[in-house]
Amino acid sequence: MRIAVPAETQGAETRVAATPETVRKFIGLGAEVAVETGAGLASGISDADYQAAGATIAPSAAEALAGAAIVLKVRRPGEAEIAALPAGALVFGIMDPHGNEEAVAALGRAGVSAFAMEFMPRITRAQVMDVLSSQANIAGYRAVIDGAAEYGRAMPMMMTAAGTVPAARVFIMGVGVAGLQAIATARRLGAIVTATDVRPATKEQVESLGAKFLAVEDDEFKQAQTAGGYAKEMSKEYQAKQAELTASHIAKQDIVITTALIPGRPAPKLISAAMVQSMKAGSVIVDLAVERGGNCELARPGETVVTENGVRIVGHLNLPGRLAATSSQLYAKNLFAFVETLIDKKEKVLAVNWEDELVKATALTRDGAVIHPNFAAKQELEPEPVVEGSVTNG
Ligand code: NAI
Repeated sequence: MRIAVPAETQGAETRVAATPETVRKFIGLGAEVAVETGAGLASGISDADYQAAGATIAPSAAEALAGAAIVLKVRRPGEAEIAALPAGALVFGIMDPHGNEEAVAALGRAGVSAFAMEFMPRITRAQVMDVLSSQANIAGYRAVIDGAAEYGRAMPMMMTAAGTVPAARVFIMGVGVAGLQAIATARRLGAIVTATDVRPATKEQVESLGAKFLAVEDDEFKQAQTAGGYAKEMSKEYQAKQAELTASHIAKQDIVITTALIPGRPAPKLISAAMVQSMKAGSVIVDLAVERGGNCELARPGETVVTENGVRIVGHLNLPGRLAATSSQLYAKNLFAFVETLIDKKEKVLAVNWEDELVKATALTRDGAVIHPNFAAKQELEPEPVVEGSVTNG
């Protein structure tokens, strides 16, 4: 049972899908692990670290992949990589299949079984495999660090002989996994933190972290959470009331961090150009939703926009990748926890139970075909062209 860890090839991905810790664990399960040379460097892991854990270092992706039964990735393999995947291999990664149906079909045609880790159900058994949570948590932390770095003043209140420095006011919009970590991080840095969300459950969570909750708490708010724990798209009327409430608040903030997402929809627009206009020079907005269209009207993917009134709007892509070593550590653990369940520990061979709910939820392709219900049907109806790097709506 050979496991391959190729270097990431897509964009500026800095994460890696295995760490010395998970390599050791896989070897303990009877696997041999081949890591492409340099695969861990951007995450602070050298070839020698992997070797010390028992991995062999392959000089190229093709050599790492040759004969592999399991391929561990952060991103979906690109065209050249797909050509090098051994037929029958199980390939794990954040596959981003929405809007990339042709790329999914290509994985099917390559005869590999591709698993989209982001489709892992959010049930207790799978918490340890939840890549959305592990990476969103880091993104929320990093957003505050990035915001603080862009902000030209101190975060905590400081009483010095030369005068008193006021604490920064930080507003978090969207209190899911990333938002909660952003609140906690901003509080630790000494900021005065407020937060908003449309799900009533978040009110108590915000307050338990020592921040103040601010939201339009009408009847629609009481119904805003779906059975799955996510937010619904709010009505135009609610959005107008929300904008009215937050507009005057945003004008007084030093740093605003937006993380609001709705599954399968573009990110809700929460900060208009007029709201940005109302902010003080030197204020900072960090938009975590920029890859899904952005929560701030003026945010641009991959750019830091400086407005005429001196507000900096940060639109970094791949925030977890900006803290690559930590993100890789957690992501690799998520992968190990899932892959471990697919291995027969006694016989030391792969033993996938295709009826298992975690397997069913994440498997995109198998035996030459696209099998995931959300994509198999779509593929038959209307094969779509590949749109590399397109903005998806999850
Ligand atoms: P997400 O990334 O889909 O959305 C982020 C936040 O944006 C959510 O809190 C959402 O309510 C909020 N939002 C959406 N529209 C908004 C608007 N118009 N204004 C303000 N806020 C808005 O959410 P994430 O982080 O994936 O978490 C979703 C839920 O899943 C949460 O309830 C979380 O506690 C739960 N969860 C459960 C887990 C488990 O049981 N294993 C693991 C992780 C999360």
